[in-house]
Amino acid sequence: MSKIIAQILEAKFQAAPIVPLIEADDPDVAVQTAKALQAGGLDVVEVVLRTDAALDCMEAIVKETSDIIVGAGTVLTVYQAGQAVSRGARFVVSPGLVDAVAQYCLDRSVPIFAGTMTAGEVQRAYALGLRTVKFFPAKLAGGVPMLKALSSVFREMRFMPTGGVSAENLPEFLAVPSVVACGGSWLTPKGSIEAGDYGAITKLAKEAVALAKAARP
Ligand code: 3PG
Repeated sequence: MSKIIAQILEAKFQAAPIVPLIEADDPDVAVQTAKALQAGGLDVVEVVLRTDAALDCMEAIVKETSDIIVGAGTVLTVYQAGQAVSRGARFVVSPGLVDAVAQYCLDRSVPIFAGTMTAGEVQRAYALGLRTVKFFPAKLAGGVPMLKALSSVFREMRFMPTGGVSAENLPEFLAVPSVVACGGSWLTPKGSIEAGDYGAITKLAKEAVALAKAARP
């Protein structure tokens, strides 16, 4: 079952290698945001566990939308990973690499994007059996040059740069062959959400999809 999710994610990332972050404290707002992103061509979303209602928000997207793959982000502990999966998360994202969290996901074939920013962390992820990791915080951790340096050593490893990715630098990150997708919050600006301007989110999503298509024809 979950191996199928990995394949679906792979196919979705071929079409649009972008994972927008959703941080919400109201499930209705989360659902509207996810639908706005989907209307713009982005249907893999990460709901970050940074608000009290984050799990409710994530579950609402799972239940009230169709054809959107929803993952949980900012997963810090095994307990949170379990909660997220039981509430419908199809993949897990962490800011760092915690062996127990990675192992929990590996044991259940739940795709996990654990955060790494050094060769040591990438190597530990590799030793655990991970072949795709988050590169975080991508811009501060050395951006594209660092990613290229890590990719030249870890030939089987693929990366999801997140943290400081924007429409401006998205094409550069996507030009690196080891990048599976880029994640980020630039597609879901707080101001637009607070103003109920979901059209702005759809527009940002469309713009990102167009940039990705140009970067990876
Ligand atoms: C994350 O949770 O991965 C980061 O907060 C995303 O960083 P960004 O807000 O710079 O996109």
